[in-house]
Amino acid sequence: MANTPTPHNGARPGEIAKTVLMPGDPLRAQFIAENFLEDVKCFNTVRNMLGYTGTYNGKPVSVMGGGMGMPSIGIYAYELYHFYDVDNIIRIGSAGGIADQIRVHDIVIGMGASTNSNYAAQYQLPGTFAPIADFGMLRKAVEAAEKNGIKAVVGNILSSDTFYDDNQNAASLWKKMNILAVEMEAAALYMNAARAGKKALCILTISDHLFTGESLSAEDRQTTFTDMMKIALEIAE
Ligand code: ADE
Repeated sequence: MANTPTPHNGARPGEIAKTVLMPGDPLRAQFIAENFLEDVKCFNTVRNMLGYTGTYNGKPVSVMGGGMGMPSIGIYAYELYHFYDVDNIIRIGSAGGIADQIRVHDIVIGMGASTNSNYAAQYQLPGTFAPIADFGMLRKAVEAAEKNGIKAVVGNILSSDTFYDDNQNAASLWKKMNILAVEMEAAALYMNAARAGKKALCILTISDHLFTGESLSAEDRQTTFTDMMKIALEIAE
């Protein structure tokens, strides 16, 4: 394959599976590889953005950190889709609740990812692009959640360029548009998938709520994380 290894990924051709799970934190990727996958091999250590390939129920699956924010996930997703022949990327991460019906502990699946980022400008479109999840993956994720008795809320999320935003009113405005939760990466992932003709899905656990001030305890973090992993691993193909 041309262009591999890349400046950001030390994997050789064939070392990455068709489906990559992508948490933000590379140590999360290592934890997933060590606790959920078998026959694991590390394929990347560049910038400590750890990446591993293993198997789950005999299926090859990779897991790699994507970092924080759209520029970061944009780089890793671009290279996986274009240079490593990856077909599916499943972002697994945390998000802050915005909608009233969302509680910490919930799982939210991003059907669409609205954004305050200018990431789409590169495509020079004569209008506004709507970044969306792959419908097939979304449907399978909903089915996997139902099968395992896990509550998952599906809808529009916000991918924000800012964690600390000077505009105190921003979240209220997004809330009026029925945005469920805020994270910082899905829109760039969905745009990369669309441009590459590939598939992506973003599954989130709600770690805090912007309006109620609730946040997850360490114990709750672990259970919801395991539920999210069940969904992600079940739909990995
Ligand atoms: N991820 C988890 N909580 C978040 C928040 N409040 N804003 C953006 N990303 C988040």
